[in-house]
Amino acid sequence: MPQWDADLYLQFASERTQPVFDLLNRIHLRQPRRIADLGCGPGNSTEALRRHWPESSVVGVDLSAEMIRKARQDYPAGTWMIGDATTWRADPPVDLVFSNAMLQWVPHHAAVCRHLLDQITPEGVLAVQVPAHYDSVLHREIIELSRDPAWDARMHQARRALTNESPGFYYDLLAPLAKRVDLWETTYYHVLPGPEGVVRWFRATGLRPFLDALDSDQERSRFEASLLKRYSTSYPRRPSGSILFPFRRLFFVAYR
Ligand SMILES: C[S@@+](CC[C@H](N)C(=O)[O-])C[C@H]1O[C@@H](n2cnc3c(N)ncnc32)[C@H](O)[C@@H]1O
Repeated sequence: MPQWDADLYLQFASERTQPVFDLLNRIHLRQPRRIADLGCGPGNSTEALRRHWPESSVVGVDLSAEMIRKARQDYPAGTWMIGDATTWRADPPVDLVFSNAMLQWVPHHAAVCRHLLDQITPEGVLAVQVPAHYDSVLHREIIELSRDPAWDARMHQARRALTNESPGFYYDLLAPLAKRVDLWETTYYHVLPGPEGVVRWFRATGLRPFLDALDSDQERSRFEASLLKRYSTSYPRRPSGSILFPFRRLFFVAYR
C-alpha cells in the first residue's frame, strides 16, 4: 500500500474523475437510498455521486488518513470514514457499492468482490472501475527497469503491489451471483504537455510502490529519470507539441 499524496493525485483531477462519470452513467438505479464509495480518495468520486443522486445518503470510505483528511477539507458536508474496503461492512446494506480506481490496490479479487456484493441490498448494484493498462509501454518499462540490478532486490514487493484480472475473470465470478453483469473497457487518450507529464501522472499512483521502495529523493529522481529515458520515444510529440498518453480502463456493473 503506497503513501498517498492527495494534492499530487489531484493534479490530474479532471482526467482521473472522467471514468467516475462514465461509470455513473452506466448504472441503472433510479433512486438508491444508501451509497458507499469505497477507496474514495480525496472525495472527487464521492462528490460526483452526491451530485448525481442528491437525495441519497453517500459515505466515502478510504484506508488512507491523508486522503480522508483532504476529502473532509474539500467537502465538509460529506460523510467520510477511514476504513478498509476489504473488511468494511455496510450496516444496513447499501443500494450501491461504487469503487473507482481502488480495487487494483488489493489482492484476492474473487473474495473481495463476493464480500462487496454481500454489502448490498437484494436489488443493489456493485459498480467498479480498475486500470487495465498492464500491457502498456509504460507499465512494461517500469517492470523492466525495476529488474535492473541497481534496483531489483528492493522491488519485489512493488512488482506485486497491483492486482489485475481479465474481464472474463470478473464475468465468471459475478455471473452466478448477479441478475446481470455489464463489462466494458475504454482507452482514454490523455493530452499531456510532454513525456515528463507521464511520470508526473504516475508518480501519484502506479509508480508509488516503486518510489516508496527507494531510500532517498536522489534515488527516486534517478529511477524516474531512467524511466523517462526508456519510454519517452514511445509517445511522439503531435504537431501541437503535446503527446497522447493512452490509458485503458476496465469497468463492470453487477446487478444482484
Ligand atoms: C487511485 S485512488 C482513487 C480515488 C477516487 N476513488 C477516484 O475516483 O479518483 C485509490 C484510493 O484507494 C484507496 N485504497 C487502497 N486500498 C484500499 C482499501 N483496502 N480500502 C479502502 N481504500 C483503499 C487509496 O487509499 C486511494 O485513496
